[in-house]
Amino acid sequence: MRTVKLIRVTAEAPTVKSFAFNDGLCSKAEPGQFVMVWIPTVDEVPMSLSLLNSTRGQAAITVERVGEATEALHNMKAGDSIGVRGPFGNNYTISRASKVMIVGGGTGLASLASLAEKLTKEGTKITFLMGAKRKSGLLFHARIGSVLSKAKGRLIAATEDGSYGQRSLVTKSAEKLFKRGEKFSMIYTCGPEKMMVKMLHLAEKFHVPFEASLERFMRCAIGLCGTCVIGKYRVCRDGPIFSGQQLLEVEDEFGCWRRGFDGRKTRV
Ligand SMILES: Cc1cc2nc3c(=O)[nH]c(=O)nc-3n(C[C@H](O)[C@H](O)[C@H](O)COP(=O)(O)OP(=O)(O)OC[C@H]3O[C@@H](n4cnc5c(N)ncnc54)[C@H](O)[C@@H]3O)c2cc1C
Ligand code: FES
Repeated sequence: MRTVKLIRVTAEAPTVKSFAFNDGLCSKAEPGQFVMVWIPTVDEVPMSLSLLNSTRGQAAITVERVGEATEALHNMKAGDSIGVRGPFGNNYTISRASKVMIVGGGTGLASLASLAEKLTKEGTKITFLMGAKRKSGLLFHARIGSVLSKAKGRLIAATEDGSYGQRSLVTKSAEKLFKRGEKFSMIYTCGPEKMMVKMLHLAEKFHVPFEASLERFMRCAIGLCGTCVIGKYRVCRDGPIFSGQQLLEVEDEFGCWRRGFDGRKTRV
């Protein structure tokens, strides 16, 4: 584990903040990889990297306040220290010079923002759909919009209360594009598991290769403890990015169950 100092804390939404730090290894990570973040005296939790800037040696995580560890992190400021282990896990497959769909919600948008940045550098045409309950939950809207505008990409926002973009579930907005006959060579998704399940079904129906980033409780992050198991896979070692084919093998758990720290299954 390396100890790093926070260099910038940015409020992204009422319950979400980004924390930037200098770390050579994290800054060179690939989109989709995650780190274990140690919050001194509290806990160590998995977080996706939301910013990868290898030229300046900077990286960032984007954290939603949901419990004890994330609350403690939200109370930290620039100059405070955290510990980082990693980066761990696999990354999204970079699909070159094709037309892809990216669908995200909540802090799932963290890893998808850096994916969009990488894909546009490869010349990939992106249709990016982001969803939230309300406008304030549309994380990285400006950042993603600016990346896509330079590469003739398209950004579609959907909110459940209609406060911004289409009044719709983001999966419904995605389905409309397929029903209009639009073709994509890949779907990437990260966000609430029910949303990702729906996207997997669309990918199956319209025969599109698919990748999703999964979250499970984690302890070791290196494939040893079994806390993050889903079917025959360990999310920290075999994921967090899984293909559609792999997710169909664990259909009875994906979108239904996750294991708690005591190994018992709880509803997703
Ligand atoms: C690979 C991966 C990447 C992640 N990336 C992000 C991210 O970019 N931003 C973000 O805000 N969150 C991310 N998470 C989820 C994050 O790890 C949890 O929200 C965090 O651990 C909660 O800790 P807590 O003590 O604040 O909450 P707790 O009080 O421990 O739990 C609150 C809720 O958070 C979830 N949770 C708790 N611990 C874990 C854990 N170790 N792994 C997964 N879920 C957990 C559970 O649903 C629980 O009900 C990621 C998880 C994984 C596995
Ligand atoms: S967290 Fe220990 S095996 Fe994945």
